[in-house]
Amino acid sequence: MTKQAKLKIRKAKLSDCPAVHRLAKTPGLTNPGGKAPNINWLKLLTKNRGIFLVASLNHKIVGFILGEKLIGIAVMVWLMAVEKNLRGQGIGRALVKAFEKTCLQQGRNLFVAYAYAKNPVIIKMLKKYGFNQGNLFYEFLKLPKAWK
Ligand SMILES: CC(C)(COP(=O)(O)OP(=O)(O)OC[C@H]1O[C@@H](n2cnc3c(N)ncnc32)[C@H](O)[C@@H]1OP(=O)(O)O)[C@@H](O)C(=O)NCCC(=O)NCCS
Repeated sequence: MTKQAKLKIRKAKLSDCPAVHRLAKTPGLTNPGGKAPNINWLKLLTKNRGIFLVASLNHKIVGFILGEKLIGIAVMVWLMAVEKNLRGQGIGRALVKAFEKTCLQQGRNLFVAYAYAKNPVIIKMLKKYGFNQGNLFYEFLKLPKAWK
């Protein structure tokens, strides 16, 4: 990130979904079949129930964080990613902080997130930002054929 480039964090729009979908094609977010989350799911969450923020640099989407409002005060933090060559420069931190602020403004202060056990970056990050580590699980998925 150059000194001149200004990071902007804002609510995601439907037109951001293709760029977010591209960022989501990264190890850590793909399903066991190697596929990125379905773009229609991203669009649904943009329209309803999502707390969905994007980070842009000079109008280019370089990161996102996506959560879903559950019944009550909880938010499920589904996904986040930052463009590979811009990682480690504070964009993820800015996204998490803005996400938390948005949730709190909406009266939501219970956060649920699942982190891959083999992803030390996200584990370190969640712990640093106040998430308490819970039980360890194996994920079992039965996917629709079209997703495989
Ligand atoms: C996880 C991810 C979004 C972090 O984004 P980022 O912009 O690189 O994160 P930041 O530079 O803001 O760093 C945030 C925190 O993560 C941790 N971190 C970042 N890079 C790290 C590294 N290489 N090693 C260890 N910890 C690291 C640090 O705790 C850091 O906190 P600090 O800067 O306050 O000390 C990014 O690595 C990514 O897109 N990974 C691939 C997708 C993924 O795994 N997503 C998570 C599962 S949903």
